Amino acid sequence: MATSSAALEDGVFKGRIIEGVADVTPTVINAMARAPNARLREVAEAFVRHMHAFAREVNLSEAEYDIGVDFLNRIGQATNDHHNEGILFADAIGFSTLVCLMNNGNQGATETAAALLGPFWRMNSPRTDNSGSIVRSPTPGPELFVSCAIKDAKGAPIAGVEVDVWQSSPVGLYENQDDTQADMNLRGKFVTDADGRFGFRSVKPAGYPVPTDGPVGDMLRAQKRHPYRPAHIHFLGFKPGYKTLITQVFVDDDEYLESDVVFGVTRHLVGDYRRHDNGAPPAAGVVAPWYTLDYTFVMEAGEAKLPVPPIK
Ligand SMILES: [Fe+2]
Repeated sequence: MATSSAALEDGVFKGRIIEGVADVTPTVINAMARAPNARLREVAEAFVRHMHAFAREVNLSEAEYDIGVDFLNRIGQATNDHHNEGILFADAIGFSTLVCLMNNGNQGATETAAALLGPFWRMNSPRTDNSGSIVRSPTPGPELFVSCAIKDAKGAPIAGVEVDVWQSSPVGLYENQDDTQADMNLRGKFVTDADGRFGFRSVKPAGYPVPTDGPVGDMLRAQKRHPYRPAHIHFLGFKPGYKTLITQVFVDDDEYLESDVVFGVTRHLVGDYRRHDNGAPPAAGVVAPWYTLDYTFVMEAGEAKLPVPPIK
């Protein structure tokens, strides 16, 4: 009587009137069970089961439900071409790191060079010669000379990897957050040479607070959490035949290594940013102290696929 004609059309889906709280979850799962895509069925069903179980576990009130929906809406409203609050939220609850570690290092079985993408990667970083500088407008701070190798799982160098590099300035701002920096400052694209190496000249990055003027900031304040990330440089390595390597290398003397607001630090990703107070400078005009970083990445065999850029 009360069923819609759509519910009867193919004879598979039988809707029903909800008789009580126990009916809701199975009825919703039943309603979604006709999705032809098996993976969609699996993911959507588990999502609904866990969301409903979550509401039951905490005995969610209507006022709390309203806060949750408002929070979700505000994540969308805070997101634009220059800022991605959705990724920031996933990062700040450890979801990005969880998914990253589950999907890399032989599906989480072994150590991995991968880390979360974060919200600041941009497409089309300027192609820069090996050993060239990514400082594109005056950026005061200690100079940094980075030298990296990329190897495969057997230790053989991988030539021809396109590597995007991006980092914050010594005051902790990415160029897209800071009008005083040139477009694409502290960003660059390199290609590994025949020995699988690339390098560049930059300035030592600083740690920074994630943006706290949106709903994620409200969450951090309510949880008495600081908003800081330890200083790091981001790397994205791309070559057909290899799983795209998305990672960060952290500055080893940073006070927030053990309390990264987005849980991105693994032991493997703490770099040896070595301070030099004397000796021959690596280039003319370099004033002590300067820093060097040598780091070797391992790329796993797999599919080369670029992520969706979080910002434009
Ligand atoms: Fe970052």
